[in-house]
Amino acid sequence: MKALITAGGHGTRLRPITHTQNKHLIPIANKPILNYALEYVKEAGIMEVGIITNKDGSEVKEVYGDGSGMGLKITYIPQERPSGLADCIRIAQPFLNNEPFVFYLGDNIIVGGIKRFIDEFRSMGSNCHLVLSKVPDPERFGVPELIGNRIVSIEEKPKVPKSEYAVTGIYIYDENIFEAVNAIQPSARGELEISDANQYLLNKKLKVTYSEITGWWKDTGKPDDLLEANRLVLDNIKGNILGRVDEESHINGRVIIEEGAEIIKSNIRGPVMIGKNTKIENSYIGPYTAIYNNCYIKSSEVEFSIVSSGCEILDQDVRIEDSILGENVSMKKVVSRPRVNRFIIGEGSNIRHC
Ligand code: G1P
Repeated sequence: MKALITAGGHGTRLRPITHTQNKHLIPIANKPILNYALEYVKEAGIMEVGIITNKDGSEVKEVYGDGSGMGLKITYIPQERPSGLADCIRIAQPFLNNEPFVFYLGDNIIVGGIKRFIDEFRSMGSNCHLVLSKVPDPERFGVPELIGNRIVSIEEKPKVPKSEYAVTGIYIYDENIFEAVNAIQPSARGELEISDANQYLLNKKLKVTYSEITGWWKDTGKPDDLLEANRLVLDNIKGNILGRVDEESHINGRVIIEEGAEIIKSNIRGPVMIGKNTKIENSYIGPYTAIYNNCYIKSSEVEFSIVSSGCEILDQDVRIEDSILGENVSMKKVVSRPRVNRFIIGEGSNIRHC
């Protein structure tokens, strides 16, 4: 079995971070989002992975190369333009070679991996196996209509959802999906919708089965989703201190401090992750914060936030909370008169003084 993972798109709801960075490389608990998909796939025993990228998207390839670093064999499949998820399968047909495969939307994070879903696909003899999750806002997703334990229809982002379930971004197909993705027509937004391809399989009376996710699942399309995914992953970490903590610092709860990190005169209240070679000095780092590699935080407070690599946060008077900082962000206080805010901020940035 092979896997096809999506890592393209423009991440418009995550601007400005996605102006310069592919959304799949944003760190969740100090690991690029795409790492989760690759790890689940590997854990399920799949070694050959196709990654769909944007036409000119070399960032993902720069990070993962041929996949050998993760024990995988990765093939990159560029998509000319964002023409929908069913189009991703259509263009990957030569790579997938009419064998069963897992289709995984690279911005999805779940607890517990995907092996159990592949086992169910096999044991039920399915043509298509979907993974459903109960959500408060099904209208944002593909939504199944269920009668008993049978899926009878699937609609993409319906105004009036026929169930409380979302079709999550984990799909397992046999070769019948290729006929579907070649037969369906673009939707009103001009894309080949994966929900229409799934509906095509239902219309053909093929066996479409499902599992329900009982733990948590997150599609990381919006800033709040990133913070929530970060919280959920941090909630499951075990503490491990490899870096240096001085005698004047206090570490409470589950905290991971990576090699080369230094904690000086600071309070860290877990769950928290501090990346390699990051220095925290005279500061407070509160629950559900992930600070990636090579950051410097001095005389500041940070809580419930994601801080990407290379950031410096110095002498901030007000706690930074509910925040996502892209790479190499610099926040400094300069003592001078008049007191002013000086910003160099990209399009779509969001600054709130609360
Ligand atoms: C896509 C699919 C949708 C599915 C969702 C899961 O939506 O079109 O059917 O429920 O992924 O993450 P999108 O994230 O493109 O809005």
